[in-house]
Amino acid sequence: MCRARVAAEPAPAGIPVSYRPSTASVNSHMPDLPLANLRVLLGVSGGIAAYKAAELTRRLRDAGAEVRVVLTENAARFVTPLTFQALSGNPVRSGLWDDAAEAAMGHIELARWAERIVLAPASADLIARLAHGLANDLLSTICLASAAPVALAPAMNQQMWAHAATQANVETLRKRGVAVLGPASGGQACGEFGAGRLLEAESIVQELAQLHGPKPLAGCRVLVSAGPTFEDIDPVRYLGNRSSGRMGFAIAQAAAEQGATVELIAGPVHLPTPPHVTRVDVRSARDMRAAVMERIEHSDVFVSAAAVGDYRPGETAAHKLKKHGSALTLTLTENPDIIAEAAAHRARAGRAPLFVVGFAAETRDVEKYARDKLARKNLDLIAANQVGGGLGFDACENELLLLWPGGSERLARADKGVLAHALLERIAALRAKLAPASGPRPRSAKNAARRSRR
Ligand code: PMT
Repeated sequence: MCRARVAAEPAPAGIPVSYRPSTASVNSHMPDLPLANLRVLLGVSGGIAAYKAAELTRRLRDAGAEVRVVLTENAARFVTPLTFQALSGNPVRSGLWDDAAEAAMGHIELARWAERIVLAPASADLIARLAHGLANDLLSTICLASAAPVALAPAMNQQMWAHAATQANVETLRKRGVAVLGPASGGQACGEFGAGRLLEAESIVQELAQLHGPKPLAGCRVLVSAGPTFEDIDPVRYLGNRSSGRMGFAIAQAAAEQGATVELIAGPVHLPTPPHVTRVDVRSARDMRAAVMERIEHSDVFVSAAAVGDYRPGETAAHKLKKHGSALTLTLTENPDIIAEAAAHRARAGRAPLFVVGFAAETRDVEKYARDKLARKNLDLIAANQVGGGLGFDACENELLLLWPGGSERLARADKGVLAHALLERIAALRAKLAPASGPRPRSAKNAARRSRR
């Protein structure tokens, strides 16, 4: 692993160390920027991705935030405080034992100053320390002493990310309301491939803007289906598909972040429940249909991201099927088309109609088949994605073609969390156009600058 810099650079002389909360922001003349005037404490932990936090500092400032940076001691082995001082325009702290800063209880002042704490990159070690409430360095002490919402962008080796201990720690933090941004997957500095890459600075800022920004789905009840369905052949075998549930879970999480009340109908997947989301686990297409239809009447939006099995075995054997030395023929029965049935229930007495969003997973002629499904299933919007060969299914990233009657939008390849927010923005805009009196409209740019902290 290469290091950007080995030794920590001492803070330059003459830099003021008082972090008194500022009342006037340097960005107060830019109220329309997505993070205008937001006081962001950027915590950088040790890892090769620490160098990317320099770009993030710039992007945060470009988005209007006032940024102060705290480096862990390990981060300061990869990057220098001087870099972050120059980019943030503020002094940088890295140790708890800085006499001058701590004379004024510097860590407590920083904890109070921050309106949002962003940890990027967040190493496995930092995540573990936060999950267990440790306060054994400046950054973890600030996190414990601050009431500011925390967002973290993990970066680590893919095996470390997949480790049960890390996943349990992340789940603990999620349950406490910490926003987890990424990680992305791809090639890693260590030469391995998988999930664990730091999200690009632009994506992090975009996600922060969503967390900080207006809540276009406030008051809206969103029902999401996610993951595969399993159709049992016998007690040990089933027909399934490669859906991991990531896309649907990202939509559920993004909808909750945008202020919606969210119910998530999840097929058999191994993903943690996003914060503030009510989850119902199901197995087969018929289970999923029942769970969806039970909730459809009180929902305003239904997003069907689940890869529902089109067919199931005509019969499920009570006991394990035995080999008989000849070919086995399974007769398949068609499953109910859940989304088509939901779309038939869109009318609402005295309320805006249900807004129905489907996905189209195609291996070829993506747009053609998606347009056909949009019309045939009577949908308001369809998100088409190319699947197969590592695309779409079971990946952290995706790319979507959104189609609706009279319009289209292409969402370029990005993390599924980023795409989920973009999809929901489109849903909010289309709903507002279709039924202006039905619910909260997207707020104005002025409102967008208002703080909202979840
Ligand atoms: O879960 P991931 O690993 O993150 O992967 C994401 C995804 C590829 C599964 C997702 O992006 C996606 O495309 N989901 C829809 C998959 C699918 O079943 O597509 P389809 O073209 O076969 O179905 C069209 C629509 O009808 C879908 O909204 C589907 O949920 C719905 N459907 C299909 C069959 C059925 N019996 N009932 C349904 O409601």
